[in-house]
Amino acid sequence: MNQSHATPILVTGGAGYIGSHTAVALHEAGFLPVLLDNLSNSERSAVDGVRTLCGTDIPFEHVDCRDEEALAAVFAAYRERGTPIQGVLHFAAFKAVGESVAHPARYASNNVGGLGTLLEAMNRAQVRHMVFSSSCTVYGEPEVVPVNEHAPFQDAESPYGWTKQASERVLTDHAKSQPGTRVALLRYFNPIGAHPSGTLGELPLGVPNNLVPFLTQAAAGIRPALTVFGNDYDTPDGTCIRDYLHVMDLAEAHVAALQWCLAQTDKPSAIRAFNLGTGTGSSVLDVIHGFERATGTPVPHVMGPRRPGDVVAIWADPSRAEHELGWKAKRSLEEALADAWRWQRSLGSEHPSR
Ligand code: NAD
Ligand code: WQD
Repeated sequence: MNQSHATPILVTGGAGYIGSHTAVALHEAGFLPVLLDNLSNSERSAVDGVRTLCGTDIPFEHVDCRDEEALAAVFAAYRERGTPIQGVLHFAAFKAVGESVAHPARYASNNVGGLGTLLEAMNRAQVRHMVFSSSCTVYGEPEVVPVNEHAPFQDAESPYGWTKQASERVLTDHAKSQPGTRVALLRYFNPIGAHPSGTLGELPLGVPNNLVPFLTQAAAGIRPALTVFGNDYDTPDGTCIRDYLHVMDLAEAHVAALQWCLAQTDKPSAIRAFNLGTGTGSSVLDVIHGFERATGTPVPHVMGPRRPGDVVAIWADPSRAEHELGWKAKRSLEEALADAWRWQRSLGSEHPSR
């Protein structure tokens, strides 16, 4: 692929977990991902990983999304060389639920403020297409599962969750005010796994909060044991249920969503929410046993108390994404867990975090 003819797409948070995997999928689909990140929760090694997998010198901009002039300069540089940026995949945000409870203003400023600044820069550059990283957290504890996009938002359980609800609202209002806007709001369920090559994966900072990074560290002997947060829920095995989605399936969904945005030429503006999940719920014990089956490696684990704020059971109805984006998750839970394990082993046991 001759990169000079590929359509440039700005990928904010492009050095992060989901952004880096999506950059690889974008490149495979013939786009030029322009990675932009302030490296507040990532490392340059992820940019190197993207370049290795793409086999070319993918551009990287060390920029903060709250810096409108720096964003404007990036848009201007591509316009001046005759290949304007055609759309933005906006991943950049803080994502730690517990930290957001301790620092709500920091989360509002980065996640909602950063989006606002980015939209201002996009207005100036007349870039109208955005794929936004939302979350199933907008639904809270759902009344009905599987959850479809009509499910009402519950009061946000955390300041982080509120930033996703607020960002969706900002984008809805933005689409009304700016003709030609096309936005896909992607509500991810639980992304897990890594690129199957073992070249890219998640780099959690410190002790992981999320299940799979903690599980792989426990299996590697970096943590003594995984604590299962509650086994007395009203579910078949007593543990919470989630919809775990391979990060490469999620990456491919972004390409489909971008193509959807680019195709909405008949409408003055378009904004649409899509649930991204497999459509299947798995319990914490299903994940532990699935990992053991997929890798042959035991997971040391103990039963512990419930984690405050945990939703009991949620999984996606992803049929809208299938019908309207032509996207469906293809990879199994066990495949995702095997890929997460390959990535964990590539980090080595002396490298538990950044
Ligand atoms: P991540 O932390 O790995 O990636 C986010 C990236 O954004 C990081 O590289 C970070 O350095 C960068 N960043 C943060 N603030 C920035 C700023 N102001 N300017 C420039 N760069 C900035 O997180 P992720 O798991 O890849 O998540 C990506 C997006 O998806 C986030 O918006 C997150 O809220 C959302 N999301 C994640 C999950 C999940 O479980 N991982 C689930 C649902 C939604
Ligand atoms: C999954 C399950 C835990 C760790 C979070 C955010 C959500 C979204 C995805 C961004 C739960 C259990 C976990 C452990 C465990 N992110 N668990 N022991 O809670 O579904 O969602 O990430 O938008 O907003 O809240 O994901 O991976 O933390 O937990 O038993 O050490 O694993 O109780 O049932 P969660 P998770």
